[in-house]
Amino acid sequence: MTKPKMRLGAFLQPTGQHLAAWRHPNAVADAGTNIGHYVELARIAERGLFDMIFIADRLGFLAEDKAILKHTVRNIAHFEPMTLLSALALQTSHIGLAATQTTSYMEPFNMARKFASLDHISGGRSAWNVVTSNYEDESLNFGREQHYSPAERYERAMEFVEIVTGLWDTWEDDAFPQDKESGVFFDDEKLHVLNHKGKHFSVKGPLNVARPPQGWPVIIQAGTSEPAKELSARFANVVFSAEQDIAAAKKFYADVKSRLAKYGRNEDEIKVMPGIMAVVGKTKADAQRKFDQLQDLVPPEVGLNLLSQTMQMDMSKYDVDAPMPEVDVTGKWSRAQMMLDLAKLNNWTVKDAYKSVSAGRGHWVVVGTASDIADQMELWFTEKAADGFNVMPPVFPGDLSEFVDLVIPELQSRGLFRTSYEGKTLRENLGVARPKHFAAS
Ligand SMILES: Cc1cc2nc3c(=O)[nH]c(=O)nc-3n(C[C@H](O)[C@H](O)[C@H](O)COP(=O)(O)O)c2cc1C
Repeated sequence: MTKPKMRLGAFLQPTGQHLAAWRHPNAVADAGTNIGHYVELARIAERGLFDMIFIADRLGFLAEDKAILKHTVRNIAHFEPMTLLSALALQTSHIGLAATQTTSYMEPFNMARKFASLDHISGGRSAWNVVTSNYEDESLNFGREQHYSPAERYERAMEFVEIVTGLWDTWEDDAFPQDKESGVFFDDEKLHVLNHKGKHFSVKGPLNVARPPQGWPVIIQAGTSEPAKELSARFANVVFSAEQDIAAAKKFYADVKSRLAKYGRNEDEIKVMPGIMAVVGKTKADAQRKFDQLQDLVPPEVGLNLLSQTMQMDMSKYDVDAPMPEVDVTGKWSRAQMMLDLAKLNNWTVKDAYKSVSAGRGHWVVVGTASDIADQMELWFTEKAADGFNVMPPVFPGDLSEFVDLVIPELQSRGLFRTSYEGKTLRENLGVARPKHFAAS
């Protein structure tokens, strides 16, 4: 019997996942708006048979933070994800193309149309990372002084995704005979008008794009709060998470899977993929040297700023060499509590905490040889802490190439990863079924 295979995503950030990546001698400093660079990354990931590449997003940044931000590259100058992935669709043939788009500052009709288009352009390889906007200041670019509350964000998101999936089902799969002889372009019995009127949105439809090749593009969800987990349970095919500890990751995994039955879904229909920043070296010492070199490039004020973002409060007032303070994180996002728990568990100072968040930004960091890294991935996979991983190379393109050349063969030799793509669409490769149209018998 063949062993179950893990799924892998390549989480792309312009210069790399490490906060100081852009200062590394091998980094491409202008990566954010360098399409040649992204084409190279997509092709390396496809050579490594990754399920997908993933692009995170944030709608702007605050110019008031420029004193800090001028030392970083993150979120400052980079491509809009849908535009970028449309270009990459034509430079690749099998790899999935996952874009983050927010339900808080976009309209469901536009969203359905954009993803349906990307799915057609790519031949069924698109995925939508549904976020509700993690950054408070995005509201200022969309006519709101204040961001929606977490509860309201997820209530809107649930209705939003319901509408988008409804719009994708506007047309049945065979709605377009396009018969030149008879002059019938579409079969009007196979057109379904949504007529949605809800608490937050009113959308009549129909959508002016044919049903996507995947039926519905793959849906990803990355929130970890209660309403986020319900959104996942109802709609997601993939759940991204940031877990640093196998016990916590197993608990999260079991929790996500246990919610599926309520929506008539089975456990295989969702792939849980925590992030892993793999720092690979030919030897352990080599990997550690690489990691230390990057950690030393993080300016303290930048590290503190990122820690403040993680904690959703100003952390610059604390002594960096004192133990991490036990601040009140009620009402903050789940990552703040997670950071407090980690600091307590490891006796971290404020500096330890900011160094940790600068490296993996809250994600799991593994430093070692390809075999060490494969050991850890195998353990998480077999222990049901993960169905796969969102791989976060510290510096692009070199660390993605190294992962492909060193870690992928190690996983393959253990029977844990594919040796060729199973299908053409992202759903086929992930092993998540194509949704039947509701009107199909
Ligand atoms: C791998 C990963 C990628 C994420 N990418 C984004 C992103 O691009 N934009 C964003 O606003 N939030 C992003 N998030 C944040 C989540 O959508 C969510 O807001 C966060 O995990 C907090 O969850 P909660 O609000 O349910 O507590 C990401 C989270 C993870 C784990």
